[in-house]
Amino acid sequence: MATYKYAKVPEHGDHIQYENGELKVPDHPIIPFIEGDGTGADIWRASVRVFDAAVARAYRGKRKISWMEVFAGEKAFTLCKEWLPEETVEALREFRVSIKGPLTTPIGGGIRSLNVALRQMLDLYACIRPVRYFEGVGSPMKNPGLLNIVVFRENTEDVYAGIEWKAGSPEAEQVIALVRALGMNIRDHSAIGIKPMSEFGSKRLVRMAIQYALKHNLPSVTLVHKGNIMKFTEGAFRDWGYEVARDEFAGLTVAEADLGKAGSGARADAVVIKDRIADSIFQQLLLRPAEYSVLATPNLNGDYLSDAAAAQVGGLGIAPGGNVGDGVAVFEATHGTAPKYANLDKINPGSVMLSGVMMFEYMGWDEAGKLIVRGLENAIASKHVTYDLARQMPGATEISTSAFGDQIIKGMDG
Ligand SMILES: NC(=O)c1ccc[n+]([C@@H]2O[C@H](COP(=O)([O-])OP(=O)(O)OC[C@H]3O[C@@H](n4cnc5c(N)ncnc54)[C@H](O)[C@@H]3O)[C@@H](O)[C@H]2O)c1
Repeated sequence: MATYKYAKVPEHGDHIQYENGELKVPDHPIIPFIEGDGTGADIWRASVRVFDAAVARAYRGKRKISWMEVFAGEKAFTLCKEWLPEETVEALREFRVSIKGPLTTPIGGGIRSLNVALRQMLDLYACIRPVRYFEGVGSPMKNPGLLNIVVFRENTEDVYAGIEWKAGSPEAEQVIALVRALGMNIRDHSAIGIKPMSEFGSKRLVRMAIQYALKHNLPSVTLVHKGNIMKFTEGAFRDWGYEVARDEFAGLTVAEADLGKAGSGARADAVVIKDRIADSIFQQLLLRPAEYSVLATPNLNGDYLSDAAAAQVGGLGIAPGGNVGDGVAVFEATHGTAPKYANLDKINPGSVMLSGVMMFEYMGWDEAGKLIVRGLENAIASKHVTYDLARQMPGATEISTSAFGDQIIKGMDG
Protein backbone atom coordinates (compact mmCIF):
# COMPACT_ATOMS: atom_id res chain seq x y z
CA MET A 1 0.00 0.00 0.00
CA ALA A 2 1.28 3.48 -0.86
CA THR A 3 1.93 5.98 1.94
CA TYR A 4 -0.12 9.14 1.98
CA LYS A 5 0.97 12.52 3.28
CA TYR A 6 -2.26 14.48 2.96
CA ALA A 7 -4.98 11.87 2.61
CA LYS A 8 -5.84 9.61 5.52
CA VAL A 9 -6.49 5.95 4.82
CA PRO A 10 -9.51 4.89 6.92
CA GLU A 11 -8.69 2.50 9.76
CA HIS A 12 -11.49 0.14 8.80
CA GLY A 13 -12.16 -1.03 5.29
CA ASP A 14 -10.64 -3.20 2.58
CA HIS A 15 -9.26 -2.78 -0.91
CA ILE A 16 -11.36 -3.52 -3.98
CA GLN A 17 -9.39 -6.05 -6.02
CA TYR A 18 -9.27 -6.80 -9.74
CA GLU A 19 -8.57 -10.38 -10.84
CA ASN A 20 -8.91 -12.00 -14.27
CA GLY A 21 -10.75 -9.01 -15.65
CA GLU A 22 -13.25 -8.93 -12.76
CA LEU A 23 -13.73 -6.59 -9.84
CA LYS A 24 -13.82 -8.20 -6.38
CA VAL A 25 -15.66 -5.90 -4.01
CA PRO A 26 -15.46 -6.55 -0.24
CA ASP A 27 -18.38 -5.66 2.05
CA HIS A 28 -16.49 -2.73 3.53
CA PRO A 29 -14.60 -1.17 0.63
CA ILE A 30 -12.45 1.94 0.95
CA ILE A 31 -13.63 4.42 -1.66
CA PRO A 32 -11.70 7.64 -2.30
CA PHE A 33 -13.64 10.80 -3.10
CA ILE A 34 -12.68 14.25 -4.36
CA GLU A 35 -15.12 16.77 -3.01
CA GLY A 36 -14.73 19.20 -5.93
CA ASP A 37 -14.40 22.97 -6.18
CA GLY A 38 -17.06 25.68 -6.10
CA THR A 39 -20.39 24.02 -5.39
CA GLY A 40 -18.60 20.68 -4.87
CA ALA A 41 -18.72 20.86 -1.06
CA ASP A 42 -22.48 21.48 -0.97
CA ILE A 43 -23.14 18.71 -3.44
CA TRP A 44 -20.84 16.20 -1.76
CA ARG A 45 -22.37 16.78 1.70
CA ALA A 46 -25.83 15.96 0.37
CA SER A 47 -24.66 13.09 -1.83
CA VAL A 48 -22.66 11.16 0.74
CA ARG A 49 -25.67 11.09 3.07
CA VAL A 50 -27.78 9.66 0.25
CA PHE A 51 -25.12 7.04 -0.61
CA ASP A 52 -24.78 5.89 2.99
CA ALA A 53 -28.54 5.80 3.47
CA ALA A 54 -29.01 3.71 0.33
CA VAL A 55 -26.32 1.19 1.34
CA ALA A 56 -27.69 0.94 4.89
CA ARG A 57 -31.24 0.36 3.61
CA ALA A 58 -30.21 -2.09 0.88
CA TYR A 59 -27.88 -4.27 2.97
CA ARG A 60 -29.00 -3.65 6.58
CA GLY A 61 -25.52 -3.17 7.98
CA LYS A 62 -23.85 -6.04 6.10
CA ARG A 63 -22.16 -3.58 3.74
CA LYS A 64 -20.75 -0.13 4.39
CA ILE A 65 -18.41 2.21 2.57
CA SER A 66 -15.30 3.66 4.25
CA TRP A 67 -14.89 7.02 2.52
CA MET A 68 -11.39 8.40 2.07
CA GLU A 69 -11.01 12.03 1.10
CA VAL A 70 -8.28 12.69 -1.48
CA PHE A 71 -7.37 16.12 -2.74
CA ALA A 72 -7.41 17.78 -6.15
CA GLY A 73 -8.22 21.25 -7.44
CA GLU A 74 -8.36 24.32 -5.20
CA LYS A 75 -8.42 22.34 -1.94
CA ALA A 76 -5.23 20.52 -2.98
CA PHE A 77 -3.59 23.76 -4.06
CA THR A 78 -4.30 25.34 -0.67
CA LEU A 79 -3.07 22.26 1.17
CA CYS A 80 0.00 21.25 -0.80
CA LYS A 81 0.53 23.86 -3.56
CA GLU A 82 -0.31 21.35 -6.27
CA TRP A 83 -3.49 21.06 -8.32
CA LEU A 84 -3.24 17.32 -8.71
CA PRO A 85 -0.89 15.72 -6.15
CA GLU A 86 0.68 12.46 -7.20
CA GLU A 87 -0.68 10.73 -4.11
CA THR A 88 -4.22 11.48 -5.26
CA VAL A 89 -3.67 9.76 -8.59
CA GLU A 90 -2.02 6.89 -6.69
CA ALA A 91 -5.02 6.54 -4.35
CA LEU A 92 -7.48 6.45 -7.25
CA ARG A 93 -5.34 3.73 -8.84
CA GLU A 94 -4.78 1.74 -5.63
CA PHE A 95 -8.40 1.71 -4.42
CA ARG A 96 -9.75 1.27 -7.98
CA VAL A 97 -13.23 2.80 -7.65
CA SER A 98 -13.74 6.46 -6.75
CA ILE A 99 -16.06 9.42 -7.19
CA LYS A 100 -15.45 13.12 -7.70
CA GLY A 101 -17.19 16.43 -7.84
CA PRO A 102 -16.41 19.10 -10.44
CA LEU A 103 -12.95 20.69 -10.51
CA THR A 104 -11.92 24.15 -11.59
CA THR A 105 -9.69 24.18 -14.64
CA PRO A 106 -6.60 26.12 -13.47
CA ILE A 107 -5.99 29.04 -15.81
CA GLY A 108 -2.36 29.45 -16.87
CA GLY A 109 -1.25 26.49 -14.71
CA GLY A 110 0.91 23.61 -15.90
CA ILE A 111 -2.11 21.31 -16.33
CA ARG A 112 -4.67 22.11 -19.00
CA SER A 113 -7.54 20.29 -17.36
CA LEU A 114 -7.43 18.19 -14.21
CA ASN A 115 -10.15 15.97 -15.59
CA VAL A 116 -8.31 15.30 -18.83
CA ALA A 117 -5.06 14.72 -16.89
CA LEU A 118 -6.76 12.17 -14.61
CA ARG A 119 -8.28 10.30 -17.55
CA GLN A 120 -4.91 10.08 -19.27
CA MET A 121 -2.83 9.22 -16.19
CA LEU A 122 -5.17 6.41 -15.14
CA ASP A 123 -5.92 5.33 -18.74
CA LEU A 124 -9.66 5.70 -18.15
CA TYR A 125 -10.40 5.08 -21.79
CA ALA A 126 -14.19 5.12 -21.76
CA CYS A 127 -16.29 8.06 -20.69
CA ILE A 128 -19.70 6.56 -20.00
CA ARG A 129 -22.72 8.84 -19.94
CA PRO A 130 -26.19 7.32 -19.48
CA VAL A 131 -29.00 9.67 -20.49
CA ARG A 132 -32.57 8.98 -19.41
CA TYR A 133 -35.64 11.00 -18.57
CA PHE A 134 -37.04 11.50 -15.05
CA GLU A 135 -40.81 11.97 -15.13
CA GLY A 136 -41.79 15.55 -14.29
CA VAL A 137 -38.53 17.28 -15.26
CA GLY A 138 -38.97 20.11 -17.77
CA SER A 139 -37.76 19.19 -21.25
CA PRO A 140 -37.94 20.84 -24.68
CA MET A 141 -39.22 17.54 -26.17
CA LYS A 142 -42.83 16.35 -26.56
CA ASN A 143 -41.90 12.80 -25.52
CA PRO A 144 -38.60 13.04 -23.65
CA GLY A 145 -39.10 9.56 -22.12
CA LEU A 146 -38.37 7.95 -25.50
CA LEU A 147 -34.68 8.74 -25.11
CA ASN A 148 -32.85 6.19 -23.00
CA ILE A 149 -29.26 5.78 -24.12
CA VAL A 150 -25.77 5.16 -22.80
CA VAL A 151 -22.93 6.96 -24.58
CA PHE A 152 -19.48 5.32 -24.56
CA ARG A 153 -17.07 8.04 -25.58
CA GLU A 154 -13.42 7.24 -26.30
CA ASN A 155 -11.46 9.23 -23.76
CA THR A 156 -7.78 9.18 -24.69
CA GLU A 157 -7.35 9.83 -28.43
CA ASP A 158 -8.68 11.99 -31.27
CA VAL A 159 -8.19 15.77 -31.33
CA TYR A 160 -8.46 15.69 -27.51
CA ALA A 161 -5.14 13.86 -27.19
CA GLY A 162 -3.61 17.29 -26.55
CA ILE A 163 -1.14 17.17 -29.44
CA GLU A 164 -1.27 20.68 -30.88
CA TRP A 165 1.02 23.60 -31.62
CA LYS A 166 0.49 27.32 -31.76
CA ALA A 167 0.45 29.08 -35.13
CA GLY A 168 3.96 30.24 -36.05
CA SER A 169 5.71 28.02 -33.45
CA PRO A 170 8.80 26.11 -34.66
CA GLU A 171 6.94 22.82 -34.08
CA ALA A 172 3.94 23.89 -36.19
CA GLU A 173 6.29 25.07 -38.94
CA GLN A 174 8.10 21.71 -38.87
CA VAL A 175 4.87 19.76 -39.18
CA ILE A 176 3.75 22.00 -42.06
CA ALA A 177 7.06 21.38 -43.83
CA LEU A 178 6.68 17.61 -43.32
CA VAL A 179 3.12 17.59 -44.64
CA ARG A 180 4.17 19.61 -47.69
CA ALA A 181 7.01 17.14 -48.29
CA LEU A 182 4.31 14.43 -48.35
CA GLY A 183 2.56 16.27 -51.15
CA MET A 184 -0.30 17.96 -49.23
CA ASN A 185 -0.70 21.64 -48.60
CA ILE A 186 -1.39 23.55 -45.39
CA ARG A 187 -1.80 27.33 -45.39
CA ASP A 188 1.24 29.33 -44.18
CA HIS A 189 1.50 29.84 -40.40
CA SER A 190 -1.47 27.62 -39.54
CA ALA A 191 -1.99 26.32 -36.02
CA ILE A 192 -1.70 22.52 -35.96
CA GLY A 193 -3.63 19.86 -34.08
CA ILE A 194 -3.19 16.12 -34.54
CA LYS A 195 -6.03 13.59 -34.59
CA PRO A 196 -4.65 10.16 -33.67
CA MET A 197 -7.11 7.26 -33.64
CA SER A 198 -5.73 3.76 -33.20
CA GLU A 199 -7.09 0.29 -33.77
CA PHE A 200 -6.21 -0.57 -30.16
CA GLY A 201 -7.96 2.50 -28.70
CA SER A 202 -11.05 2.19 -30.89
CA LYS A 203 -11.47 -1.54 -30.41
CA ARG A 204 -11.18 -1.55 -26.63
CA LEU A 205 -13.84 1.18 -26.43
CA VAL A 206 -16.28 -0.63 -28.73
CA ARG A 207 -15.55 -3.89 -26.90
CA MET A 208 -16.59 -2.30 -23.59
CA ALA A 209 -19.76 -0.89 -25.18
CA ILE A 210 -20.75 -4.30 -26.58
CA GLN A 211 -20.02 -6.04 -23.26
CA TYR A 212 -22.23 -3.48 -21.53
CA ALA A 213 -25.07 -4.02 -24.02
CA LEU A 214 -24.84 -7.80 -23.55
CA LYS A 215 -24.71 -7.57 -19.75
CA HIS A 216 -27.76 -5.31 -19.60
CA ASN A 217 -29.74 -7.02 -22.39
CA LEU A 218 -29.79 -3.90 -24.52
CA PRO A 219 -30.87 -4.17 -28.15
CA SER A 220 -28.17 -2.31 -30.10
CA VAL A 221 -24.77 -0.62 -30.21
CA THR A 222 -24.46 2.24 -32.70
CA LEU A 223 -21.01 3.26 -33.93
CA VAL A 224 -21.03 7.04 -34.39
CA HIS A 225 -18.42 8.44 -36.80
CA LYS A 226 -17.70 11.03 -39.45
CA GLY A 227 -16.12 8.45 -41.72
CA ASN A 228 -17.58 9.86 -44.92
CA ILE A 229 -15.12 12.79 -44.60
CA MET A 230 -12.34 11.53 -42.28
CA LYS A 231 -11.96 8.10 -43.81
CA PHE A 232 -8.76 6.90 -42.17
CA THR A 233 -9.59 8.04 -38.63
CA GLU A 234 -13.37 8.13 -38.13
CA GLY A 235 -14.01 5.68 -40.98
CA ALA A 236 -11.50 3.29 -39.44
CA PHE A 237 -13.27 3.66 -36.07
CA ARG A 238 -16.44 2.32 -37.72
CA ASP A 239 -14.58 -0.53 -39.48
CA TRP A 240 -12.68 -1.55 -36.33
CA GLY A 241 -15.95 -1.45 -34.41
CA TYR A 242 -17.62 -3.88 -36.82
CA GLU A 243 -14.50 -6.04 -36.69
CA VAL A 244 -14.60 -6.36 -32.88
CA ALA A 245 -18.26 -7.33 -33.05
CA ARG A 246 -17.65 -9.91 -35.76
CA ASP A 247 -14.39 -11.39 -34.41
CA GLU A 248 -15.03 -11.34 -30.66
CA PHE A 249 -18.82 -11.50 -30.31
CA ALA A 250 -19.82 -13.77 -33.18
CA GLY A 251 -23.37 -15.02 -32.69
CA LEU A 252 -23.98 -12.53 -29.89
CA THR A 253 -24.05 -9.57 -32.29
CA VAL A 254 -25.39 -9.01 -35.78
CA ALA A 255 -24.67 -6.13 -38.16
CA GLU A 256 -27.79 -4.13 -39.05
CA ALA A 257 -27.07 -4.78 -42.73
CA ASP A 258 -27.23 -8.56 -42.10
CA LEU A 259 -30.50 -8.49 -40.18
CA GLY A 260 -32.94 -11.04 -41.52
CA LYS A 261 -30.34 -12.61 -43.84
CA ALA A 262 -30.09 -16.36 -43.64
CA GLY A 263 -26.83 -17.81 -42.34
CA SER A 264 -25.72 -14.93 -40.13
CA GLY A 265 -25.55 -17.43 -37.26
CA ALA A 266 -26.67 -14.77 -34.78
CA ARG A 267 -28.96 -15.52 -31.84
CA ALA A 268 -32.49 -14.15 -32.05
CA ASP A 269 -31.68 -11.68 -29.27
CA ALA A 270 -28.28 -10.70 -30.72
CA VAL A 271 -27.17 -7.11 -30.15
CA VAL A 272 -27.62 -5.22 -33.42
CA ILE A 273 -24.51 -3.27 -34.48
CA LYS A 274 -25.44 -0.14 -36.43
CA ASP A 275 -23.44 2.82 -37.60
CA ARG A 276 -24.50 6.42 -38.13
CA ILE A 277 -22.71 9.49 -39.42
CA ALA A 278 -22.06 11.97 -36.59
CA ASP A 279 -24.26 14.82 -37.87
CA SER A 280 -27.09 12.44 -38.67
CA ILE A 281 -27.15 10.96 -35.15
CA PHE A 282 -28.02 14.40 -33.71
CA GLN A 283 -31.15 14.41 -35.89
CA GLN A 284 -31.87 10.77 -35.17
CA LEU A 285 -31.81 11.26 -31.39
CA LEU A 286 -34.33 14.09 -31.77
CA LEU A 287 -36.57 12.42 -34.34
CA ARG A 288 -36.28 8.67 -33.64
CA PRO A 289 -34.86 8.42 -30.09
CA ALA A 290 -36.40 5.03 -29.36
CA GLU A 291 -34.23 3.38 -32.04
CA TYR A 292 -31.00 3.96 -30.11
CA SER A 293 -29.63 2.32 -27.00
CA VAL A 294 -25.83 2.14 -26.57
CA LEU A 295 -23.72 4.54 -28.65
CA ALA A 296 -19.96 4.15 -29.14
CA THR A 297 -18.22 7.31 -30.29
CA PRO A 298 -14.78 8.83 -30.81
CA ASN A 299 -13.76 11.52 -28.33
CA LEU A 300 -14.95 14.79 -29.85
CA ASN A 301 -18.26 13.52 -31.25
CA GLY A 302 -19.08 11.94 -27.90
CA ASP A 303 -18.42 15.17 -26.02
CA TYR A 304 -20.95 17.11 -28.09
CA LEU A 305 -23.46 14.32 -28.36
CA SER A 306 -23.68 13.47 -24.67
CA ASP A 307 -24.32 17.10 -23.65
CA ALA A 308 -26.93 17.55 -26.39
CA ALA A 309 -28.67 14.35 -25.31
CA ALA A 310 -28.62 15.44 -21.65
CA ALA A 311 -30.24 18.77 -22.61
CA GLN A 312 -32.94 16.85 -24.46
CA VAL A 313 -34.13 15.18 -21.24
CA GLY A 314 -33.92 18.23 -18.99
CA GLY A 315 -30.38 19.32 -18.44
CA LEU A 316 -26.92 18.78 -17.07
CA GLY A 317 -27.84 19.21 -13.39
CA ILE A 318 -28.78 15.52 -13.20
CA ALA A 319 -26.60 14.03 -15.96
CA PRO A 320 -24.12 11.51 -14.50
CA GLY A 321 -20.85 10.18 -15.86
CA GLY A 322 -18.09 7.68 -15.29
CA ASN A 323 -14.56 7.38 -16.62
CA VAL A 324 -13.69 3.73 -16.79
CA GLY A 325 -10.55 1.77 -17.70
CA ASP A 326 -9.60 -1.84 -17.04
CA GLY A 327 -10.19 -2.28 -13.32
CA VAL A 328 -10.03 1.44 -12.45
CA ALA A 329 -12.98 3.83 -12.55
CA VAL A 330 -13.67 7.41 -11.51
CA PHE A 331 -17.31 8.48 -11.46
CA GLU A 332 -18.01 12.18 -11.74
CA ALA A 333 -20.52 14.97 -12.09
CA THR A 334 -20.73 16.06 -15.72
CA HIS A 335 -21.37 19.73 -14.97
CA GLY A 336 -18.73 22.25 -13.87
CA THR A 337 -18.16 23.96 -10.53
CA ALA A 338 -20.93 26.57 -11.01
CA PRO A 339 -18.86 28.96 -8.80
CA LYS A 340 -21.54 31.64 -8.50
CA TYR A 341 -23.64 29.26 -6.41
CA ALA A 342 -20.77 28.04 -4.17
CA ASN A 343 -21.69 27.62 -0.48
CA LEU A 344 -25.28 28.77 -1.04
CA ASP A 345 -26.73 25.27 -0.52
CA LYS A 346 -28.67 25.82 -3.73
CA ILE A 347 -27.37 23.66 -6.54
CA ASN A 348 -28.77 20.33 -7.76
CA PRO A 349 -26.76 17.37 -6.38
CA GLY A 350 -28.43 14.93 -8.83
CA SER A 351 -25.48 14.57 -11.18
CA VAL A 352 -23.09 13.34 -8.45
CA MET A 353 -25.83 11.16 -6.94
CA LEU A 354 -26.59 9.46 -10.25
CA SER A 355 -22.85 9.08 -10.85
CA GLY A 356 -22.95 7.24 -7.52
CA VAL A 357 -25.67 4.99 -8.95
CA MET A 358 -23.32 4.16 -11.83
CA MET A 359 -20.57 3.49 -9.30
CA PHE A 360 -22.78 1.10 -7.33
CA GLU A 361 -23.75 -0.73 -10.53
CA TYR A 362 -20.08 -1.00 -11.48
CA MET A 363 -19.39 -2.52 -8.04
CA GLY A 364 -22.30 -4.94 -8.38
CA TRP A 365 -24.24 -3.13 -5.62
CA ASP A 366 -27.28 -2.65 -7.86
CA GLU A 367 -29.77 -2.64 -4.96
CA ALA A 368 -28.23 0.52 -3.50
CA GLY A 369 -28.25 2.18 -6.92
CA LYS A 370 -31.92 1.30 -7.45
CA LEU A 371 -32.88 2.87 -4.11
CA ILE A 372 -31.22 6.16 -5.09
CA VAL A 373 -33.01 6.19 -8.45
CA ARG A 374 -36.32 5.50 -6.70
CA GLY A 375 -35.58 8.23 -4.14
CA LEU A 376 -34.83 10.74 -6.88
CA GLU A 377 -37.92 9.77 -8.91
CA ASN A 378 -40.12 10.22 -5.85
CA ALA A 379 -38.42 13.50 -4.88
CA ILE A 380 -39.08 14.91 -8.34
CA ALA A 381 -42.67 13.61 -8.27
CA SER A 382 -43.18 15.40 -4.92
CA LYS A 383 -42.21 18.65 -6.71
CA HIS A 384 -39.85 19.60 -3.88
CA VAL A 385 -36.75 20.22 -5.94
CA THR A 386 -33.70 22.47 -6.34
CA TYR A 387 -33.99 25.80 -8.18
CA ASP A 388 -32.94 24.52 -11.63
CA LEU A 389 -35.74 21.93 -11.71
CA ALA A 390 -38.25 24.13 -9.85
CA ARG A 391 -38.13 26.85 -12.48
CA GLN A 392 -39.10 24.38 -15.19
CA MET A 393 -41.87 22.66 -13.20
CA PRO A 394 -45.19 24.43 -12.74
CA GLY A 395 -46.32 24.35 -9.08
CA ALA A 396 -42.94 23.20 -7.73
CA THR A 397 -41.42 24.31 -4.41
CA GLU A 398 -37.75 25.28 -4.52
CA ILE A 399 -35.69 23.65 -1.78
CA SER A 400 -31.98 23.67 -0.90
CA THR A 401 -29.34 21.12 -1.89
CA SER A 402 -29.39 19.56 1.58
CA ALA A 403 -33.19 19.48 1.77
CA PHE A 404 -33.27 17.82 -1.66
CA GLY A 405 -30.92 15.17 -0.23
CA ASP A 406 -33.41 14.61 2.62
CA GLN A 407 -36.27 14.41 0.13
CA ILE A 408 -34.41 11.72 -1.84
CA ILE A 409 -33.71 9.67 1.29
CA LYS A 410 -37.41 9.95 2.19
CA GLY A 411 -38.28 8.91 -1.38
CA MET A 412 -36.34 5.64 -1.05
CA ASP A 413 -39.20 4.25 1.06
CA GLY A 414 -41.90 5.44 -1.32
N1 LIG B 1 -16.05 17.66 -14.82
C1 LIG B 1 -15.62 18.83 -14.37
O1 LIG B 1 -14.94 18.88 -13.35
C2 LIG B 1 -15.95 20.10 -15.12
C3 LIG B 1 -16.83 20.08 -16.20
C4 LIG B 1 -17.13 21.29 -16.83
C5 LIG B 1 -16.54 22.46 -16.38
N2 LIG B 1 -15.64 22.44 -15.34
C6 LIG B 1 -15.04 23.68 -14.78
O2 LIG B 1 -16.04 24.33 -13.99
C7 LIG B 1 -15.82 25.75 -14.02
C8 LIG B 1 -17.12 26.47 -14.40
O3 LIG B 1 -17.54 26.06 -15.70
P1 LIG B 1 -18.83 26.57 -16.47
O4 LIG B 1 -19.35 27.82 -15.81
O5 LIG B 1 -18.52 26.57 -17.91
O6 LIG B 1 -19.91 25.42 -16.31
P2 LIG B 1 -20.81 24.99 -15.02
O7 LIG B 1 -21.41 23.65 -15.35
O8 LIG B 1 -20.02 25.07 -13.78
O9 LIG B 1 -21.96 26.04 -14.87
C9 LIG B 1 -22.76 26.56 -15.91
C10 LIG B 1 -24.16 26.86 -15.35
O10 LIG B 1 -24.89 25.63 -15.37
C11 LIG B 1 -25.75 25.57 -14.24
N3 LIG B 1 -25.42 24.39 -13.44
C12 LIG B 1 -24.27 23.66 -13.46
N4 LIG B 1 -24.35 22.65 -12.60
C13 LIG B 1 -25.56 22.72 -12.01
C14 LIG B 1 -26.22 21.93 -11.00
N5 LIG B 1 -25.64 20.88 -10.42
N6 LIG B 1 -27.45 22.31 -10.62
C15 LIG B 1 -28.04 23.37 -11.17
N7 LIG B 1 -27.49 24.14 -12.12
C16 LIG B 1 -26.25 23.83 -12.55
C17 LIG B 1 -25.55 26.86 -13.47
O11 LIG B 1 -26.51 27.78 -13.90
C18 LIG B 1 -24.18 27.34 -13.90
O12 LIG B 1 -24.03 28.69 -13.75
C19 LIG B 1 -14.65 25.97 -14.98
O13 LIG B 1 -13.46 26.08 -14.24
C20 LIG B 1 -14.65 24.70 -15.82
O14 LIG B 1 -13.40 24.42 -16.36
C21 LIG B 1 -15.36 21.29 -14.69
